[in-house]
This record gives sequence, C-alpha cells and structure tokens, in this order.
Amino acid sequence: MRHLQLSAFGLWLLAIGFSANSCSSREPKFQQYFVEGEQLYLKSCGNCHQKDGKGLALVYPPLSPSDFMEDNMEDAICMMKKGRKGEMMVNGKMFNQPMPGVPSLTELEIAEIATYIYNSWGHEKGMVEVSQVRTALQKCAY
Ligand code: HEC
Repeated sequence: MRHLQLSAFGLWLLAIGFSANSCSSREPKFQQYFVEGEQLYLKSCGNCHQKDGKGLALVYPPLSPSDFMEDNMEDAICMMKKGRKGEMMVNGKMFNQPMPGVPSLTELEIAEIATYIYNSWGHEKGMVEVSQVRTALQKCAY
C-alpha cells in the first residue's frame, strides 16, 4: 500500500513536470499569445507603463520587474479590465494614482497581454490561459 502511494505521488510529479513543460516558450500557442500580447500591451498599456515596462517615476508603477504583479496575478487581470484606485506598494515604493481599465478587452486579449507581461522583464509564469482570466474576472473585488 505504502509502495502504491509512493508511485502515485511519482506519477503526479511526472504529470506536473509534463504540464510545466507544455508551457514552454517553444509552444506555438504560447508564441501566438506572447506576440499578440505585446502588440496589445503597446497599444493599451505602454503609454503609462512604458514600452520597456519601467513605468514613470512615482506616477506609473513599473512592471519590469514588479513584486506586486508577481504576487497578484488575479488583481492584475481585474485591473486591466476594470481599472484600480488607491494606494499600492510596488518594489517598496508607494503609488497612488488611478489606473483606468480597458473594459473593451476580451478574455482572450487579457490572456494574451498577461502571457506577454508575465513572461517579460524577469517574470516567468508561463502561459496564462483564457480560463484563468475568466476565473479571475469572476472574483474581482470591485
Ligand atoms: C493611464 C495610465 C495607465 C494605463 C493605460 C495602464 N495602467 Fe496599469 N497602472 C497605472 C497606475 C497609475 C497604477 C497604480 C494604481 C494604483 O495606485 O492603484 C497601475 C497599476 C498596474 C499594475 C499593478 C502595479 C505594478 O506595477 O505591478 C499592473 C500589473 C498594471 N497596472 C498593468 C497594466 C496593464 C497590463 C495595462 C494595459 C491593459 C495597464 N496597466 C494600463 C496606470 C496605467
């Protein structure tokens, strides 16, 4: 029985390893999301967060890199669609300017932008799926 449990655990590890691998940057779907996401980022986000993700002084927080973004993917997804107001600490600095959301962004477009920003500038979260975006949007606190 003990042996059986151990091998089930082994299989589980294999499965995790396999799914992590299938998120590799060589996958065509990842490439497509990343490339589309970059264009959408430049159009909808780059004016404030800048093309290189460095942000602007204490007005627009950086994404390149950002501890806030790294730890709060669901919040970041909500913000893209619905905007955000209030204080936030990013890399030890306080920001407090409203970010306007882009309500016209579709779940696919948000997944593409998220795949781009979460695999750029030191972030390495892999593919962000439409289903993850949908779940996050259902849970937005505002
Ligand atoms: C008009 C300027 C503006 C635009 C456009 C904009 N943002 Fe923001 N963004 C901000 C501001 C200001 C904050 C800080 C909000 C606060 O203090 O509550 C912020 C916060 C964030 C954060 C969390 C803080 C951090 O640095 O990690 C993320 C992630 C983010 N924006 C991503 C995006 C993405 C992706 C887009 C495009 C869909 C976008 N933003 C468009 C101004 C903007």
